[in-house]
Amino acid sequence: MNFILFGPPGAGKGTQAKFIVDTYSIPQISTGDILRDAVKSKSPLGVKAKEIMNSGALVSDEVVLAIVEERLAKSDCDNGFVLDGFPRTLPQAEALKALLGKNSKKINCVISLDIADEVIVKRLSGRRTCSVCGAGYHLLADPPKTDGVCNKCSGTLVQRDDDCEATIRKRLQVYHEQTSPLKEYYENGGFLFHVDGTSSIQEIQTTIQSIVKSTNV
Ligand code: AP5
Repeated sequence: MNFILFGPPGAGKGTQAKFIVDTYSIPQISTGDILRDAVKSKSPLGVKAKEIMNSGALVSDEVVLAIVEERLAKSDCDNGFVLDGFPRTLPQAEALKALLGKNSKKINCVISLDIADEVIVKRLSGRRTCSVCGAGYHLLADPPKTDGVCNKCSGTLVQRDDDCEATIRKRLQVYHEQTSPLKEYYENGGFLFHVDGTSSIQEIQTTIQSIVKSTNV
C-alpha cells in the first residue's frame, strides 16, 4: 500500500505516519525529517536548506525530488511506503506520478488531515521532539512520562526552530498558496480521503484503518 499523508503543518502527518509504519510494516518517508537530518549534520544540502526551512518557505522542487527519488529506490519501499510532507507542489506531484509509473507503481491512498489554521498555531506551540531518536510528543495531547525526557531513549526533548508563531503563520501561508491545490489534484484521482484532524490521535488511527480496509489494496 502506497500512502500520502497530506495536510498543513502540524496537522498530525508525522504522528499518523508512525502509526502506519507500525501497523502496516512499511517505511515512512518524511522529506522534513530527511532535511532536518541534513541540517543537523551540516552537509552541503543541510547548509542550503537551513535558512529556507527556518523562514517557513519550501525547499526547491529539484532538491526535494532528488531526495525522494533516492529514498524510493531503496528495497524497503518495495512493499509500500508512507510519504509524509511530500508532495507539496504540483510539479512534485507530477514528478512522483512519473517516477512511480516507471516502476509500474502508483499511490493507492491519500489521507488529508483537515484542520483550521488557528488550531494549528495553538497546537504547534506544544510540540516537542526528541533530540536523539526524533520521537514526537505534545505537552497536552501526548505528553512524555517525565517532563522534557523522551519515553523511548531518555533523550532531551526540544522545540523545533520553525515552531515559533511567525514562522508557523508563514508555513501556513505557503501551504495555502502552494500545497492545498493538490487536494483537487488527488480528489480527481478518486483516492483522497478527508479525515478530521481535530479528532484525537487514537480516533484518527481507527479512521485510517477503516479507510485502508475500504480500499481493498
Ligand atoms: P515538515 O517537517 O514536513 O513540516 P510540516 O509539513 O510543516 O509538518 P509538521 O512536521 O510541522 O507537522 P505534522 O503534520 O507532521 O504534525 P505532527 O504529527 O508533528 O517540513 C518542514 C520544512 O521542510 C518545510 O517548511 C519546508 O521548508 C521543508 N520541506 C519539507 N518537505 C518539503 C517538500 N516536499 N518540498 C519543499 N520543502 C519541504 O503533530 C504536531 C503536534 O501535534 C505534535 O506535538 C503531535 O503530538 C500533536 N498532535 C498530532 N496529532 C494530534 C491530534 N489529533 N490532536 C492533538 N495533538 C496532536
